[in-house]
Order: sequence, then C-alpha cells, then structure tokens
Amino acid sequence: MKKVVIVGATSAIAAEAARALALDGASLFLIGRNSDKLERLAGDLRVRSGAEVHTAAFEAHDLHGASRVLEQARSALGEIDAALVAHGDLPDQRACEHDWAAAERSLVTNFMSPAAFLTWLANYFEGRKQGNITVISSVAGDRGRQSNYIYGAAKGGLTVLLQGLRNRLAHHGVSVTTIKPGFVDTPMTAHIKKGPLFASAEAVGRRTAKAMRRGESVVYAPGFWLPIMLIIRHIPECIFKKLRL
Ligand SMILES: NC(=O)c1ccc[n+]([C@@H]2O[C@H](COP(=O)([O-])OP(=O)(O)OC[C@H]3O[C@@H](n4cnc5c(N)ncnc54)[C@H](OP(=O)(O)O)[C@@H]3O)[C@@H](O)[C@H]2O)c1
Repeated sequence: MKKVVIVGATSAIAAEAARALALDGASLFLIGRNSDKLERLAGDLRVRSGAEVHTAAFEAHDLHGASRVLEQARSALGEIDAALVAHGDLPDQRACEHDWAAAERSLVTNFMSPAAFLTWLANYFEGRKQGNITVISSVAGDRGRQSNYIYGAAKGGLTVLLQGLRNRLAHHGVSVTTIKPGFVDTPMTAHIKKGPLFASAEAVGRRTAKAMRRGESVVYAPGFWLPIMLIIRHIPECIFKKLRL
C-alpha cells in the first residue's frame, strides 16, 4: 500500500493508523476538519517517517464536497491504493430523542458523510480493479440499545452499506474492511468513565492499519468484542427489550 487517503485523519484512532502506514513507507493524503490539528499531524508524520504527506480540509456536512476533496487527493498522489474513512461523533442520545436537529447532525456525520465518500471511492477502485477501502464503524451498529440507538443506527447503516460494497467490489479485486471498535480511549469518549473494556487508540489504530494491509473483511477491535457481540446479537428480543442497555 503505497498511496493512502485518510478521511477524518485527526481522529485519535486514524492518526495512529496513519503513523503505522507512514512507517511502512506509504505516502498519505490526510483529510480533516481542523486545519491546525491536521498540519500538526502531517508535520509529525513527516519528521517520524520521512513520508510524503498532503492535507486538505473538509466538513462532513458538506456532502457534495466529498468527491471534490477526493479528486484533489487523486491528483496529489497520482493514484490511490487504499482509503481509510474514520470520522464520526458520539451524540448525546437524550438530546437526539428530543431534538431532531441533533439526531440529524449525528446521522449526517456518522452515516451520510461516509456514504458520500464511499460512493466516489467505490467507483474509483472498481475502475482500478484493485485496492482497499477501510471504514471505522462500531460495535454499536450490531444491535440497537436505548443508550445510543441514534449513533447505533448510523453505524448499523454504515455496516450494511459496507457489506453491500464488499459484495460488489470483491468481483473487481477490491477489498472492503469494516472495523468495529468497542470502547476506545479517545477525545470522543473523554466524558465516559474508563473501565477494563477500554482499549487504547494506538492498539486500535495499529490493528486498523494491519487489517488494511491484509484486506480483511470484518474486524472487531480488540478481538474480544467478537464473542461479546455474538452473545448480544443473539439475545431474544423478548428478553432484550426488558434490559437497560
Ligand atoms: N472512541 C470510541 O470508543 C469508538 C468506538 C467505536 C467506534 N468509534 C469510531 O471511531 C472513529 C474515530 O473516532 P475516535 O474514537 O478516534 O474519536 P476522535 O479522536 O474524537 O475523532 C473523531 C474524528 O471525527 C472528526 N469529525 C467529527 N465531526 C466532524 C465533522 N462534522 N466534520 C468533519 N470531521 C468531523 C473529528 O474531527 P476533529 O479532529 O476536527 O474534531 C475527528 O477527526 C469514529 O468513526 C468513531 O465513531 C470510536
């Protein structure tokens, strides 16, 4: 993987994946909303690895801007071997229940915006007949729970979209990787009390880079979330609806 685009590159998880990819010799095109943060990350990557690193700004709610910034990435890198789509936000579930604008913001950031990037990326890689698309979804998308079902619905929709893309693009030599982290210690979860189920951004970022290199399909990160979610997905609805999760 020589030339990689990362959308939402300033995410703590994506930044760790970028470090691993840059140390592997990849050239990077980083797309992020905060230009200062993006430039700091790019500078750090250049110093640590000597990698070629480009940057561009985006805002997830500018859905029609996705193709423009990806065209920019293609012309800067010449070609793209892999893409990581990482941006997202964790909304206040209670606020989303009472305020449609809050729910809409989350649905756009966590589903519509990644879908807009994926439309361009899928057609690009289908034409190239090779490459990898990796997206950070979440275990929250595996089953709706009262504590975060707006975020979960967006991530669940994203997971299904990726299943469809994987099925479509497998016939064209392109791998599609869904990363499903559990709790990760990042700015997104700064307000949540940390417990033994929390993983570091470094561990999940490195696992993400490894999955991209291998072209894996679905990766729970850390791996112990696979059996946990297997159990959660299989609890009968008549019992599940009575739990406070
Ligand atoms: N942390 C967890 O426990 C956890 C668990 C499961 C899945 N995930 C997923 O992992 C991914 C990375 O999150 P993280 O944990 O690394 O958190 P993070 O460090 O807070 O990163 C969130 C990223 O999303 C970007 N972003 C948010 N709203 C945006 C908008 N409107 N327009 C453009 N960019 C926007 C942020 O940009 P700024 O840097 O400018 O704020 C940042 O790059 C997300 O998709 C998240 O849903 C996280």
